[in-house]
Amino acid sequence: MKSHTLRNSLLGILILLIVLSIAVLVGVFRSSSVAPQAKQPLSDAQMHDLIPTGRELALAGNCMGCHSQAQGPMGAGGVPIDTPFGTLHSTNITPDPTYGIGKYTREDFHRVMRDGIAPGNRNLYPGMPFVFTHITRPDDIDALYAYIMSVPPIAQPNANNTGVFTLPVRPFMNFWALINFPDREPPTRQGASEQWLRGAYLVEGLGHCGACHTPRNITMGVSFSRSLQGGDAIDGLTVPNITAETLAQRGFDAASLSQYLRTGTSAQGTSFGSMYTVTHFSTSAMQREDVDAIATYLMTDKQGKLLAAAPGPEALPIASDPLLQPGRLSYMSACAACHGVSGEGIPNVAPPMRGNTAVMMEDPNNLVTVILHGVQTQTFAGNERMYAMPGFADRMSAADVAGLATWMRAQWGAQAQPVTAEQVQKLIPKTYD
Ligand code: HEC
Ligand code: HEC
Ligand code: HEC
Repeated sequence: MKSHTLRNSLLGILILLIVLSIAVLVGVFRSSSVAPQAKQPLSDAQMHDLIPTGRELALAGNCMGCHSQAQGPMGAGGVPIDTPFGTLHSTNITPDPTYGIGKYTREDFHRVMRDGIAPGNRNLYPGMPFVFTHITRPDDIDALYAYIMSVPPIAQPNANNTGVFTLPVRPFMNFWALINFPDREPPTRQGASEQWLRGAYLVEGLGHCGACHTPRNITMGVSFSRSLQGGDAIDGLTVPNITAETLAQRGFDAASLSQYLRTGTSAQGTSFGSMYTVTHFSTSAMQREDVDAIATYLMTDKQGKLLAAAPGPEALPIASDPLLQPGRLSYMSACAACHGVSGEGIPNVAPPMRGNTAVMMEDPNNLVTVILHGVQTQTFAGNERMYAMPGFADRMSAADVAGLATWMRAQWGAQAQPVTAEQVQKLIPKTYD
C-alpha cells in the first residue's frame, strides 16, 4: 500500500514535470512585452520623420556594426560569432523582402527588440543582444524600424550556422530565457539628471555594454547582479571592469571618458580588440550629447556622486630593484622609440604606457597578449592613424616578456605581482586576429 502511494506520487511528479517542460518548450511562460499600439502600421509620413532619430539609436545599438561584414554591404549580415557550441552568424536586416526583413510589420520588429522572437515564432539566440534591447521604449523602437526600413535592400542570403545551431534547438531557448531573460526596465534614480537617465537607458539597453563587460553565468546568461564588473575573455582579451570607482581609479573622469568613446584614444590607451569595433562603428559616430550622457552615467557611483579622476600611479619601490632591471632594458630597446622613454607616449605614434589600462589591470593578460601579438593598424576618429603595434612573440623569449611586463606593471601600473614565464608561455598561441 505504502509503496503504491510512493509510486503514484513519483509518477504524478514526473507527469507534472513533463507537462511543465512542454509548456516551457512551447513558450507558455514567454509572455510578450510588445506595446499594444505596435499593431497599427505607421504611415509613410511618420516613418519618414522618424528616420534621423532611428539612425542615432541604430548607432548606439551598433546594429550595422554587428550586421555588416567588414567589406560587405551595410546590414546584409554574415558576421560570424564563435561560441563553444558552434558558429552563429548575424542575419540580413536590410529591407529586402526575400533575404532581409522587408516583410516585417511594425509589430514583428517590436517583438524582436523586446522579446527576442522573430516572425514564425523563431526564438532568437542571445548573440542578438535582445536581453538588453528589451528595455527600449516603444517610440524608439518605431524610430529604429523606420531607419532600418530606409536603408538600401540587399539580396544576400544568410550564411549557414555551424554546430548546435544547425539543429532544431530554437524552442529550447525558452528554457534559457526562463532563467536568463529578466523583465528589466530602464534604470531610474531619485533626483537623477536627464543626462544620467539618458546614459543609463543607452548603456543598459541599446548600447549593450554589459554584453561584454558583465560576467556570464554557467548557462551563458548575463549576470546582471555583477553589472559592468568585468566580463569573460573575448578573443583572448580580458574585458575590464568599467564601474565608476574602477574607471576613476584608472584616471578617467566624465570628460576624458567621453573623449575615449568619441575618438578611441585616451591617456589610458587606445581601444583595441572587440572594443575597437564599439568605438569605431558606434560611439565615435554618435551625437556628442549621447556619448557625454553615457560617460556621465558610467562615472556616477551607486550613491549618485559623479567621480573625479584619481591621480596617476606612482612607481612602486620594487621597480628599481636590480632584479627587475632587465625588464627596463627590454623596454628601452624594444618599446621606448614608440611609447616614450618615460612611458609618456608619442602623439600620432603610440599611446602612453604610464597609467595605461593594460598595464594597470590586476590581470596581466591584455598586456602580455598585446606584447606577444601586437595590434593591427587601426584608424581613429579624425582619421588619426598610429603605427601598427608590432608583436614580439618571435623576437623575445617568454622569460624576457615576463620580465618586461613585470617591470612595466611596477613602474607604471602600481601592480607588484610579478608576471611569470609560464603565464606568458600559455598566451603564445594566438587566439585572435
Ligand atoms: C552583437 C551583435 C549584434 C548586435 C549589436 C545586433 N544584432 Fe541583431 N542579430 C544578431 C544575430 C547574431 C542575429 C541572429 C540570431 C539568430 O539567428 O537567432 C540577429 C538577429 C536580428 C534580427 C532578426 C532577423 C531575422 O532573422 O528575422 C533583427 C530584426 C535584428 N537582429 C535587428 C537588430 C537591430 C535593429 C540591432 C540594433 C538595435 C541589432 N540587431 C543589433 C546580432 C546582433
Ligand atoms: C612601432 C611602434 C611601436 C613599438 C616599437 C611598440 N609599440 Fe606598443 N603600440 C604601438 C601602437 C601604435 C599602439 C596602439 C595600437 C592601436 O590601438 O591601434 C600600441 C599599443 C600597445 C599596447 C596596448 C595598449 C593600448 O593602449 O593600445 C601595449 C600594452 C603596448 N603597445 C606595449 C608595447 C611594448 C611593451 C612594446 C615593446 C616590447 C611596444 N609596445 C612596442 C606602437 C608600438
Ligand atoms: C564586443 C565586446 C565589447 C562591447 C560590446 C563593449 N566593450 Fe568596452 N571593452 C571591450 C574590451 C575587450 C576592452 C579591453 C580592450 C581595450 O581597452 O580597448 C574594452 C575596454 C573598454 C574601456 C576601457 C577601460 C579602461 O579603463 O581603459 C571602456 C571605458 C569601455 N570598454 C567602455 C564600453 C562602453 C561604454 C560600452 C558600451 C557602449 C562598451 N565598452 C561595449 C569589449 C567591449
